[in-house]
Amino acid sequence: GKVRHFKWEVGYIHWSPDGLEGVVLGINGQFPGPTIRARAGDTVHVELTNHLHTEGVVIHWHGIRQIGTPWADGTAAISQCAINPGETFVYRFEVDKAGTYFYHGHYGMQRSAGLYGSLIVDVAEGEKEPFLYDGDFNILLSDWWHSSSHEQEVDLSSKPMRWIGEPQTLLINGRGQYNCSLAAAYFSNSSVSQCNIRGGEQYAPQILHVHPNKTYRLRIASTTALASLNLAIGNHKMVVVEADGNYLQPFSVENMDIYSGESYSVLFTADQNPSNNYWISISVRGREPRTPQGLTILKYHPNSASKLPKSPPPVAPRWDDYNYSKSFTNKILALTGSPKPPTTYNRRIMLLNTQNLIDGYTKWAINNVSLILPATPYLGSIKFGLSNAFDLKTPPDHFSHDYDVMRPAPNQNSSYGSGVYMLSFNTTIDVILQNANALRENVSEIHPWHLHGHDFWVLGYGEGKFSKKDEEKFNLKNPPLRNTAVIFPFGWTALRFVADNPGVWAFHCHIEPHLHMGMGVIFAEGVGRVKKIPTEALGCGLTGKMLMNNVHK
Ligand code: C2O
Ligand code: CU
Repeated sequence: GKVRHFKWEVGYIHWSPDGLEGVVLGINGQFPGPTIRARAGDTVHVELTNHLHTEGVVIHWHGIRQIGTPWADGTAAISQCAINPGETFVYRFEVDKAGTYFYHGHYGMQRSAGLYGSLIVDVAEGEKEPFLYDGDFNILLSDWWHSSSHEQEVDLSSKPMRWIGEPQTLLINGRGQYNCSLAAAYFSNSSVSQCNIRGGEQYAPQILHVHPNKTYRLRIASTTALASLNLAIGNHKMVVVEADGNYLQPFSVENMDIYSGESYSVLFTADQNPSNNYWISISVRGREPRTPQGLTILKYHPNSASKLPKSPPPVAPRWDDYNYSKSFTNKILALTGSPKPPTTYNRRIMLLNTQNLIDGYTKWAINNVSLILPATPYLGSIKFGLSNAFDLKTPPDHFSHDYDVMRPAPNQNSSYGSGVYMLSFNTTIDVILQNANALRENVSEIHPWHLHGHDFWVLGYGEGKFSKKDEEKFNLKNPPLRNTAVIFPFGWTALRFVADNPGVWAFHCHIEPHLHMGMGVIFAEGVGRVKKIPTEALGCGLTGKMLMNNVHK
């Protein structure tokens, strides 16, 4: 493969993602950051300079497994030290598998501040995709607040917690409309006015140009901080063919759910009346929507881009129609011939997801431990056997048998922790994610869980509390391989993966405020096999001191 070189500078810039000017985290003066396009087998080389004045920064390559390069995973306090203002760090890693990916900040709440972009990996030269298309588009979905990520961070960590609320705007490739709507003309009672956009504005929608009767691949990834979304193309059916960089058994839908951390490819054919244009819409799911739909236009050649579609934008299924979401999710199966999971597991870890109060602070906890990250990156402290760098007590593999997941916990307290799940190298791990009632009665939220360093097989979903006999219903025949999977309210999700990638890997809810409130765990495997970690990755905390002593010796 080739080496693809990029030189990036991260800095705050004035930008108008939705018509209201604010400050975003940009790369090379751009928001969203530049799209990386490579071929499977290529090496991506990003020389990242931190131009922020008072904050560190890191970038995570979401969905890239970092086989042999765990120090390039871009997770502050886990795989590396945050890059200080003025410093440069080189990310160098192989993109080994074709697919739709993205990258984003992984320090504090810098993803909410707009630090993200697309990463597209095409098949290696001479290889073929298992489906055909005439052209492709790439859309990265996100949500946007008018309060800064710093203010949000303070709100979430206050006592009592101040909830950040729903996003003001949904963005498609960093573009949305707040002060106006592309579709106001269709709603007589609308209080916002029809947008008067010329096309050059930062918040002008990116129009998708198609030719009649051609078939296109739409690559979709969601890096939302909070929102679960439903995407539709007015009047057009979509055939889902890829999820998180893995091929699926193709299935056809009118609209689809997409959770933060997920990516998909869908095929559609421009086979509708060519004298019209059509909507592409994204709408909020799983939370009561207080954010207008995100919209852009599918423009048939040679229509004008300003020609509005005939009918109003697609209406999404009701936000709390979870059966709808489940039936979509259950259609996601691996393409015939995909790698199959091992039929048994070596270790099963049950992870109970709860919302808690610690000294009056609202937190999320896993088996009653709310994650706080240490000052020294785990990858260094484990590799060099430094004690005192994090909690040496292993977090629990189980939660109490009589825990009632349908009710608020009788004891809402929990504790902070930085312990690690040490996984034996090359063993098969089952994770059962168990949802539960949150602090308030009759409330249980959706959480999309994302695993670094691996894909996992999604063996099944179920309602209520997982029990041993539920495993009879596991799908071992064609479960999809993914890196993100959702747990539905009051339900469980079963995952299986092989701990075969030496390194330290985060596994967490991809809702950024939830992660910030402790909703994650740390897995480590085969760290002794990790080759020489670049010293620039470890210049902080106890590893920083250790490196300094080595120089003086
Ligand atoms: Cu895209 Cu740890 O996340
Ligand atoms: Cu969550």
